[in-house]
Amino acid sequence: MNLEKARAACDTIVGQIRSLYVGDELLIKKLLAATLANGHVLFEDNPGLGKTLLAKTLAFSIDCNFSRVQCTPDLLPADILGTKVWRPKDGSFELFKGPVFTNVLLIDEINRSPPKTQSAVLEVMEERQVTIEGETYRCEEPFFVLATQNPIEYEGTYPLPEAQIDRFMMKLSTGYPRTLDEEKLIVKRRIKWKKDDPTRDLKPVISAEDFSSLQRAVENDVYIDEVIIKYIAEIVRKTREHPQVEVGSSPRGSLALLKASRAIALVGGRDFVTPDDIKTLAVDALAHRLILKVEDVMKRVDERKIVKEALDTVSVPKDYHPR
Ligand SMILES: Nc1ncnc2c1ncn2[C@@H]1O[C@H](COP(=O)(O)OP(=O)(O)OP(=O)(O)O)[C@@H](O)[C@H]1O
Ligand SMILES: [Mg+2]
Repeated sequence: MNLEKARAACDTIVGQIRSLYVGDELLIKKLLAATLANGHVLFEDNPGLGKTLLAKTLAFSIDCNFSRVQCTPDLLPADILGTKVWRPKDGSFELFKGPVFTNVLLIDEINRSPPKTQSAVLEVMEERQVTIEGETYRCEEPFFVLATQNPIEYEGTYPLPEAQIDRFMMKLSTGYPRTLDEEKLIVKRRIKWKKDDPTRDLKPVISAEDFSSLQRAVENDVYIDEVIIKYIAEIVRKTREHPQVEVGSSPRGSLALLKASRAIALVGGRDFVTPDDIKTLAVDALAHRLILKVEDVMKRVDERKIVKEALDTVSVPKDYHPR
């Protein structure tokens, strides 16, 4: 797929999402970039801010299957993965596939599910395969998890372990509508809708095949210069040296930044990464990986601020090559 075509395809996807979701265009582009780079996204937001709407609109626009799991404290691994059922008629076991057998899996309120269920999701996210009673099944292609969690620490939640948080390429947040006009537009658009689910009539704007070739283009055709690789490494190291940080970003964080920046370059119609791409994504790709010193957790120090500080202290490469 050539650059012009790739850019046009991304614009069309973003345009379709914007026809339903009112909000920041950059947020939509970041979400699209994560999925193009085959990455999982964690949304941390209050209820009712359009997360399900975003996930569904994206899935349907790129011709993908979508399923959703609502997490509860009694959710079992089998409720997500599926289970085998004995069939006395012919003496065999039949596999009942769980919601994980899909392209886009939305896991709502992931921190309400118990640790055993969370760790079942862990395997799927990292290895893109599912083990049910000893047998392993490949996930569908593409496959990505969009998970949501509530920022307020409610009773009855099990905070995600660091290993699981680290598996998300980005942590994003939709936030509340930014202006009164946005607030009005959300309501106005719905005056004419008879149905409760505005995504019901959505048609894909790109075929699953074309989406896969966009994903391949990210990996094969988007160039990243040596000095920008160094820029990523320096930012990540800075997060580890920060006095308020107990554990900084893992190399998985550097890889997330690498992949996501190449994808966002393609979304912007470029076949090379710029330092601005890194600046745009560093906070979303790194902040959730930092573990603060105990006293700073108590003080509610914001990890995002720490990544921003790292960005401010590392010098920005100027003489990078676009090819
Ligand atoms: N930014 C927005 N643009 C357009 N519609 C919105 C927006 N935010 C919310 N809505 C509408 O409000 C309703 C609730 O949104 P949605 O179900 O997507 O929220 P959610 O973030 O998934 O909430 P929850 O955390 O409770 O699952 C939907 O009808 C959705 O279309
Ligand atoms: Mg929802």
